[in-house]
Amino acid sequence: MNNFSYLNPVKIAFGKGSISKLPELLPERKKIMMLYGAGSIKNNGVYDKVMAGLSSCNFIEFAGIEPNPLYETCMKAVEAAKKNGTEFILAVGGGSVLDAAKFIAAAIEFAGTDPWDILASDAPVRSALPLGTILTLPATGSEMNMTAVISRASTCEKLPFSNPLVYPVFSILDPETTYSLSVRQSVNGVVDALAHVTEQYITSGSGTPLQDRLCESIISTLIEEAPKILSDPKDYEARANIMWCATNALNGWCSCGCVQDWATHMIGHELTAFYGLDHAQSLAVVMPELWRINMHSKESKLAQFARRVFNVKEKSDSRAARAAIAKTEDFFHSLGMKTKLSDYGINGEEAAGKVYERFMGRGDVALGEDGDINAAKAREILLKC
Ligand code: NZQ
Ligand code: ZN
Repeated sequence: MNNFSYLNPVKIAFGKGSISKLPELLPERKKIMMLYGAGSIKNNGVYDKVMAGLSSCNFIEFAGIEPNPLYETCMKAVEAAKKNGTEFILAVGGGSVLDAAKFIAAAIEFAGTDPWDILASDAPVRSALPLGTILTLPATGSEMNMTAVISRASTCEKLPFSNPLVYPVFSILDPETTYSLSVRQSVNGVVDALAHVTEQYITSGSGTPLQDRLCESIISTLIEEAPKILSDPKDYEARANIMWCATNALNGWCSCGCVQDWATHMIGHELTAFYGLDHAQSLAVVMPELWRINMHSKESKLAQFARRVFNVKEKSDSRAARAAIAKTEDFFHSLGMKTKLSDYGINGEEAAGKVYERFMGRGDVALGEDGDINAAKAREILLKC
């Protein structure tokens, strides 16, 4: 196990009715900007509950954060926040709204000329406004981590940044807010959470039995609970379990002291940037082929995954590992999640070429836990997708 020091300081209020905790979690006498998306919160009653919690606060609203939040929109929010003297951001929605809040919080305080540099060239974030979240879509783990992913419409780019200053101060997780999710978004959430775990688990790493078992228990729970939310969207227990899985999948605990992959995500982000695939759709396409191509380094973990999670009895590691990939694909298909570029009408050769050029344009890349996925290998993977 590698050395690690890790502290996740997010205060979590979880459960039915937890939005009522908002007044006690908010800082006193601060000017607040409440941020949300296209309006799902107005249709499912979350907006009214938040308004009740904000009734004695000085706040403005900023609506219209889109899925795969845009830098351009975030910069409008930065302008509005500066004008109003905002001191605290409250994000209400899915991962996109939460990520936008993190970027806006850092951009408002950014000392350089263009906050895009935080994403594009790792410009230092030395301070950020504090933020809190009310999550309505379990998927990204953004509610309990320090990462945000922002897209730029003008250049078709999608880039992440991470900084401890953008950890939420608190996150409210009421599983009842997720009853209104469409099947597509519910499934996206399950697949994204599963992918977060596998990016930390299906690696060439070894010697981390506790972290491995954390990963296996999250994936097993997702596999057990996902069909329940599809057959009964108001199954509270299942919604709550999925929500807690998604938070734990990317709050840092699974990967403490472990090597991590994240190549599926980095290639997937390009597919979203170029073709508009939902984040989870891009992952379900890339992951199986990336595993097949990097079988030489991932075989042992894939075989363990097969035996422990899918109960595969196969003695040969190589056959067990292949079974793990097939069973992961079967699980995705059972949820209605597609796994091929052609399922979305995307030409694989064109996509492979575009992603190759994009990565070469950045001076090539060295993705994956061993840094062995460069632009050429990403192209090879996509040609098989
Ligand atoms: O905009 P509204 O009206 O709110 O509708 C949203 C949106 O259309 C809707 N929705 C959210 N909660 C709902 C709901 N509809 C009905 N009922 C509810 N309770 O769902 C749609 C998608 O929302 P979005 O926030 O985009 O989805 P998700 O949570 O999957 O977030 C995806 C974004 O997060 C990034 C992705 O790249 C993508 O940009 N990620 C962030 C990460 C992080 N911060 O650590 C890691 C992830 O790997 C991921 O990259
Ligand atoms: Zn993800």
